[in-house]
This record gives sequence, C-alpha cells and structure tokens, in this order.
Amino acid sequence: MAEPLKIALAGLGTVGTGVVRLIETNADLIARRAGRPIRITAVSARDRSKDRGVDLSPYAWEDDPVAMAARGDVDVVVELVGGSDGPALALARGAFKHGKGLVTANKAMIAHHGLELAASAEQTSVPLKFEAAVAGGIPVIKGLSEGAAANAIDRVYGILNGTCNYILSTMEDTGADFGDVLAEAQRLGYAEADPTFDIEGIDAAHKLAILASIAFGARLRFDAVETMGISRVKAADIEQARALGYVIRLIGTAEIDRGEGVPRLLQRVRPHLVPFDHPLAHVDGATNAVVAEGNFMGRLLFQGAGAGDGPTASAVVADIIDIARGEKGAAFSMPAGDLEAMEPAPTGHRLGRSYIRFTVPDRPGVLADITAAMRDAGVSIESLIQKGDPDDDGEVILALVTHEVPESAVSEAMRILEGSHSLTAQPLVMQIIGD
Ligand code: NAP
Ligand code: HSE
Repeated sequence: MAEPLKIALAGLGTVGTGVVRLIETNADLIARRAGRPIRITAVSARDRSKDRGVDLSPYAWEDDPVAMAARGDVDVVVELVGGSDGPALALARGAFKHGKGLVTANKAMIAHHGLELAASAEQTSVPLKFEAAVAGGIPVIKGLSEGAAANAIDRVYGILNGTCNYILSTMEDTGADFGDVLAEAQRLGYAEADPTFDIEGIDAAHKLAILASIAFGARLRFDAVETMGISRVKAADIEQARALGYVIRLIGTAEIDRGEGVPRLLQRVRPHLVPFDHPLAHVDGATNAVVAEGNFMGRLLFQGAGAGDGPTASAVVADIIDIARGEKGAAFSMPAGDLEAMEPAPTGHRLGRSYIRFTVPDRPGVLADITAAMRDAGVSIESLIQKGDPDDDGEVILALVTHEVPESAVSEAMRILEGSHSLTAQPLVMQIIGD
C-alpha cells in the first residue's frame, strides 16, 4: 500500500475527538477506501491535561495549533478549533504557506474568508475542503459540487442548524423551556462555543452563504444574508402555529432572482411556519435537511444528522479520504476567480403569507387598531386567534395569519404600528413556507 497520508489535528473538542475515534475505529476500512492509511502525527488543543476519552499518547503534542502548519511530518492540516479569525485563520493561512492541504469544519471562517483561502489553495495547488462546515454529516457540498455539477441551480433552502431544530422540535414535543433545551443541546455537543451564533441564526447564515456560493457559482456574500434567529419564538407561538396546522422551523433560503435581467442573490435565514404535510415539518431533533432545485435534475433532498461528534467527524474524514486519493477539486466547485459577483436581490415585491404575533393589553380598541394598520397597508387577514386569559400583566397573545401579500405591505403595517399603545412588545413576523 502507498505511503500514509499524515495529518495534524488542531482542536480536540466534540469534532476533534470524534475524528480521532473514527480514524482509529475504521482505520483498515479507511485505508482500503483511500488507497493508503491515514495517520495522525500531531495534535493540539488549549489544555494538554484534559481527559478527552481518547488516547493521544501516540501523537506529538503542539501547544500552539499554528505551529502544526510548519511541521515536516504533516501533509494535511485539519482545523477543528473554530472561530472566524484567530488561531483557526492563522493556521489555515500557515497551511497554504507551507504547501499543505487544509480540511476544516469551520463555517464561520469559510463564510468570512473562504474566497481568500480558496485563492491561496489554488495558487499553491493544495486542496481546501470543508464538507463538515455545512449540515454536519450530510454530504451536501459533495452532492452539489459533484452530483449536481451539470445543473443550473436557482434555489437552495433548508434546515441548516441542528441546535435550533433540536430546540424547536423538542419544545414542540415536550413543552420544555427554551433555556433547558438549549442547555441539553450544548451538553450533546451540537451548539457552537458561543450558542448565540446558533440561536440568532448566524451559524445557519454562515452555512447558507457557503451553499449559495457553491450552488450558484456566486462569490461568497455572508454580509448580504438577512438573518433572524429563534430567540424571539415563544412557546405560545409554537402552540398557536400547531393550532393553525404548522410547526416552526428555522429555514435558510438562497435564491437567484432573474427579475430585472441581471441575476441577483437572495439569502435569508428566518424562522418559518411549515405546514404539517411539508417534508421539512418532519425534520426533528438535530437533523438538517437541504433542498436544491436544478434545471435538469429537478428537486433533490439531502437529509441527515446536522451536528454532533460522529456525523461531523464522518464528513471531516470523508474530505481527508478524498485528499488521500489525490482529489483536489476547486473548493467552491469552480476556481475562486470565476465565481460571479452578485448584488443582493430586492425582497419587497415577493409574495407570501405571514404569521404575525402581537402582544397586546386586553382592552377594547386594540383589535381595531391592528386591523386598521393592516387595512391601511393593504394586508388582507386570513385568520386571527386570541386564546387564553391575560397574564399577570394583563397582556394577551394575538396571532394573525395574512393572505398572500407583498412583503413590503407587511413591513408597512409593522411601521404603522410602531410605538402604538395597543402593543406592549414588538410584533414577531414569521413567513409561512410555500412549495
Ligand atoms: P469545541 O468542542 O469547542 O472544541 C474546540 C477545540 O479547539 C477544543 O479542543 C479547544 O481546546 C480547541 N481550542 C479552542 N481555542 C483554541 C486556541 N485558542 N488554541 C488552541 N486550541 C483551541 O468545538 P467543536 O464543537 O468541536 O467545533 C469545532 C469546529 O467544528 C468549529 O468550527 C465548529 O463550528 C465546527 N462544527 C462543529 C459541529 C458540532 O456539531 N459540534 C458540527 C459542524 C461543524 P480545549 O479542548 O483544550 O479547550
Ligand atoms: N452548532 C451547529 C449546529 C453545529 O447546531 O448546527 C453543526 O454545524
């Protein structure tokens, strides 16, 4: 058998220890599939004394992860530290400077610096791979850049954050409190080091920007992703949504808008109401699902574990195996310089139905004020529910579903109601997913 591929692992947390376990457990199978053994030569993390449940004694230890890039006994650096900048980025840049390939699960770094890193990798003719950065164990990057490579893709959307999906579906199933379910997601290793990245939709936005670039051949535009997370979704919304025939899911959508001749890019992450009979309504726990629509293949659905040590390690090691086989490929499925620059698409004209939750004082005239704002903005109401007794502060929740109207009309209604004494909190608007 050929010479081993020698790898250095930076980061020995949830994903890093998963990679060690996977490479040790399936060593023979991996060697046969890769055509050569994969050998870990060096590892690095912050705390050398921490018990990580894996035997690290066979490997050289580096206190400074960036030092791995310069080691002579390393062919490929595997970055599993995290963070868009700092040691992760220094290590990535160092790897290319020293002519080594890079595998990473770090969507924050790729969303912010992916184009620079891809260009550096091309210049030095080394591979850059990041399958684990999007949708954990699902081979969606491979699926889009290889399996769907012949298609023009105009839309890609789905559930891209395991932590949020775990929180929403567990709250839905058990009525558990948001904070308790988030703590459980952290314990299970799903959440980012800073979980606000998960619950505020930033992690899903990182992944969406990467997917959009690969799917559409567009230059990465993380700065252009409209992002809203799930931190404002209450148990009452989940209950109202259920009464109306929906579940709530955090959905990322990227779409090419060809409306005015020049293609523009819509990228947004938002909680949505999803009808019970829609395939995404049945995606529970830390599962992710991605739908891609191509002009010849039709609709593809990728689904699987979106977070956690095993599934993420599986995607990381798949990239390492590709490199061991000698596959280089362009990181974004075409050379970085060929990716097309696209401006963000306007959204006001887009038609859709929305769920709007108002928190209101339980007194006469409130409903009239809300419906007047809807009338003045041209928003037609499909249904309206006020359920339950006022809480201790005399407030009630009022949920409204609109007919199909332009997004700009809903925004206008919200603008009219700004500062109204008939509202005690900012309304929450969630779109209802279409086909
Ligand atoms: P983690 O459990 O927090 O592990 C991070 C590791 O990096 C730890 O071993 C830590 O060392 C080390 N580290 C952190 N800062 C360091 C520094 N300044 N210098 C040296 N080492 C440092 O994170 P994770 O969940 O494994 O995630 C790693 C990467 O994978 C992130 O980019 C994340 O977004 C991505 N990812 C995670 C998942 C998932 O399900 N967890 C899924 C897909 C992608 P100590 O252990 O000594 O503190
Ligand atoms: N924190 C991420 C999630 C990890 O919950 O989806 C997987 O990328």
